[in-house]
Amino acid sequence: MKVLMVCLGNICRSPLAEGILQHKANALGLSWEVDSAGTAGYHIGEAPHRLSQKVAMLNGIDISKQKGRQFTKEDFERFDKIYVMDNSNYADVKRIAKHAFNETKIDLLLNEVYPNENRDVPDPWYGTEEGYHKVFEMLDKAADEIIRKYADVQISK
Ligand code: 4NP
Repeated sequence: MKVLMVCLGNICRSPLAEGILQHKANALGLSWEVDSAGTAGYHIGEAPHRLSQKVAMLNGIDISKQKGRQFTKEDFERFDKIYVMDNSNYADVKRIAKHAFNETKIDLLLNEVYPNENRDVPDPWYGTEEGYHKVFEMLDKAADEIIRKYADVQISK
């Protein structure tokens, strides 16, 4: 299973989503490949935001080695599933991917927790540390649902 997490900057939300899902998959012995990317190129080559790193570390996950990259249309070939954090990411991915866009591979991440509601993972970029903790909780729930759906394992709620 190859999963790509996408947000705007690849600096706050999607690096956390990548770290959480990779951590859970590894802990279960699943050989899943998880990556992340941003629809914008503002932070290419940068490590995740210090508050994303801090909140991940407080939860036992090291995301400090990640490097920001931009989403490309080839990602639709490379990955089995692409999750976007919000509705504007979805529109941006569609615009960038053009003919490579494949509706069957992409979804809003929170649709795994709240099916068909098209909820956004809020962007914590302009807020305080509290926002990063809230985002972590949302991403953690979604990662559990992805594992339940695509790995044949039982995990407690
Ligand atoms: P992210 O948050 O999409 O969760 O990584 C943002 C990071 C940077 C910017 C916007 C959102 N920015 O405008 O630089």
